[in-house]
Amino acid sequence: MDGRGLVRSVRVFGSVAGLRTVRAAWRQRRTDASALPPRGAERARVPGPAQGAEPEPGGGTVRFARSSLRVCVSAGGTVFWGWDGADPEPSYALAGAAPEPDPRAVLEPDTDGGWRVVSERVTVAVSRHGAVEIRTPGGVMLRRDLPPRWWEPVGGGPARWAQRAEVPADARFFGLGGRSAGPRLRDGSYRLWNTDPGGRFGPGDDPLYITMPVQFVVADAGTHLAFHDNSWDGRVTLAEGEEGAGSGHDRPGTGEVRMEGGPLRCWVIVGTPARVLHNWAALTGAPALPPAWALGPQHARWGFGSAAEVRRVVAGYRERGLPLSAVHLDIDHYDGHRVFTVDRERFPDLPGLAEELREQGVRLVSIVDPAVAAEPGNVLYEEGRAAGAFVRDARGEEVRGVVWPGDCAFPDFTDPAVREWWGGLYEERLRQGFSGIWHDMNEPVSFAAFGDPTLPRSARHCLDGRGGDHREAHNVYGLLMARAGYDGLRRLRPGERPFLFTRAGWAGMQRYGGTWSGDVATGWPGLRASLALVLGLGLCGVPYSGPDVGGFDGSPSPELFLRWFQLGAWLPLFRTHAALDAGRREPWEFGPEVLEHARVALAERERLQPYFVTLSRLARMTGAPYVRPVWWGTPEDRVLRECEDAFLLGDALLVAPVLHRGSDRRAVRLPRGRWYDTATGEAYEGPGQVLLDAPLARVPVLARAGAVVPVRGEDGELALEVWAPEAGRTGGGLVVRDTGDGWEPAEIERYQSRRVDGRVVVERVTDEGPVEPGLPVRVRGV
Ligand code: NOJ
Repeated sequence: MDGRGLVRSVRVFGSVAGLRTVRAAWRQRRTDASALPPRGAERARVPGPAQGAEPEPGGGTVRFARSSLRVCVSAGGTVFWGWDGADPEPSYALAGAAPEPDPRAVLEPDTDGGWRVVSERVTVAVSRHGAVEIRTPGGVMLRRDLPPRWWEPVGGGPARWAQRAEVPADARFFGLGGRSAGPRLRDGSYRLWNTDPGGRFGPGDDPLYITMPVQFVVADAGTHLAFHDNSWDGRVTLAEGEEGAGSGHDRPGTGEVRMEGGPLRCWVIVGTPARVLHNWAALTGAPALPPAWALGPQHARWGFGSAAEVRRVVAGYRERGLPLSAVHLDIDHYDGHRVFTVDRERFPDLPGLAEELREQGVRLVSIVDPAVAAEPGNVLYEEGRAAGAFVRDARGEEVRGVVWPGDCAFPDFTDPAVREWWGGLYEERLRQGFSGIWHDMNEPVSFAAFGDPTLPRSARHCLDGRGGDHREAHNVYGLLMARAGYDGLRRLRPGERPFLFTRAGWAGMQRYGGTWSGDVATGWPGLRASLALVLGLGLCGVPYSGPDVGGFDGSPSPELFLRWFQLGAWLPLFRTHAALDAGRREPWEFGPEVLEHARVALAERERLQPYFVTLSRLARMTGAPYVRPVWWGTPEDRVLRECEDAFLLGDALLVAPVLHRGSDRRAVRLPRGRWYDTATGEAYEGPGQVLLDAPLARVPVLARAGAVVPVRGEDGELALEVWAPEAGRTGGGLVVRDTGDGWEPAEIERYQSRRVDGRVVVERVTDEGPVEPGLPVRVRGV
């Protein structure tokens, strides 16, 4: 962290708080210096030659001179391998028990003195020096993890390790959590350490709030996901390969993982992107299903300042006939920035306000920060202290940091008892009338004038009874806070699905909710970073996210605000938000022209609400993100893996946002098949590139020929919009209806479209054969 945190806290709270952050930084440094002495001498180790192997269900264990490697292929084709006796558990990423081994996958000797496991979907080959190669059933290499190397401190302590993997020369890397410079990850080193960049970030800032050792790799030979299940501080260094490099040979791409400690174990999932994310969701959990209202337009603001201002903004939407589904209250509605309190002067009757807004169809969402003001008289602090809920240092003293309320203590969410206690506190939020929860500052942040703006690395954590320090707990802190909140809300309100989203997280966070961009800098680069984050997180299994529309800081130009708004309208979380000292973000604050175009974007979002509901349900049922890269569909579409400025929304739509100032046309690269410009109805044939009009009034959106899209008809009821299939071809679409905000199961309805004598026929596919759709149908593109 640079001094940005300091600058920000001085700006917001004055120099007393600024000085606190200097003290906090020194304190952190001292704490670590005494508890974590320099590493000293280390011994390096490699596995050495293989000496034998024992078969086990799904694979077996290969013994090397100085280590052992366990390989297990599961029934779904998911591969696990772990060195030095590492098992799948314990793991904070996994949703439950590790998948069942494939009974037909057996470890057998390979020709070159190694071993291999052959299964229906994947072959795993272990060389006699310990390289692990993942191949397609056709024998094509997708990934080769070379023998690892460990460095063990002579005096004992966690071993560091490094391992390099090779991937095909044409492979491109994605993932690693939320990366502003993505979604395609260029050559470089990416740190695995959840970090608040301090006030705002642009495409050059890395790491950010959500890091995870999840690589999504796309090559002509196939796609795969590799997950190093290890939450320690680490780094991934990526280098794309080169086809036909020196003397015509391909130079493979490489990805090297280095960790400061923790197990060396990895999950590899191969297949189409849809299959990979399906198996990833099976492994780490199905994405939480947001209530339908969380798919509507939302408005947040740091600094509403009072109930009157909230009413004014909501009335502004209403009077202009603009839809609004939720308003988010930031830390300024707290009493002295203390979590789980309300400033009664500015918000004298929050439950009353919530009810009043609810009658207008607007919900209230509350920010929740983890840090608890450590001051006598703060009941929450005293309660937590008495329960031993706060993180301590190696000497057993409570770790103190500085956040918005001043000196703070930090709940240890790695302790199940603390999670339970914390989850119960949401009762107060529900009583205040809030319908949803927004977790912030949970990397966790402790402002520091210099050094790392978080807890000392030596801070102790429970880690569910195993015990350990912040080097291991840091990256899962936000994930486990989300678990505490989600489980708490489920206990408190069993009949309703929680709506929760969190700034920090880790692999598996989708089980508890979504996320948002964090403090994305206002500017065109920030707009592009917004899309990068949503796409990249989707490939890590986190389907629900979106940016601060308009950017977090400063004041966007009317054009930039509009383009951001038009992008946001097609993303799962569609929310305007801005910092305390930023300019306005209400759509009417940018002049009548912006307002009219924003109105159109809002109307289209409302019209497509049933499609968003369907996508949210499908994300839960299949793991597929709502927002997908354009190379998602067929193997042939993988040539588009360098295209980062457009995306697929579900199967049906291709959205090409305007990401550059002054553009009124833009080039759009099309996947295979016929695509209709939804504004003009004109048809284009993919693959190829087309130049489309992108006037201020709209961004180009194309519909796939044959697509059946659930929409709100003119009467507000569910209807089907069908885009004419190409002659001789069929199309279709899935519809999942909203079954309310509870847990009622929903059914997937399947529709097909085809052309009969030039006419477009739409039918619902049932077990008894095709039947009338039973819904109004509007055919387009003929
Ligand atoms: C940081 C968050 O990223 C931002 O959205 C929020 O407004 C501030 N914290 C204040 O709570």
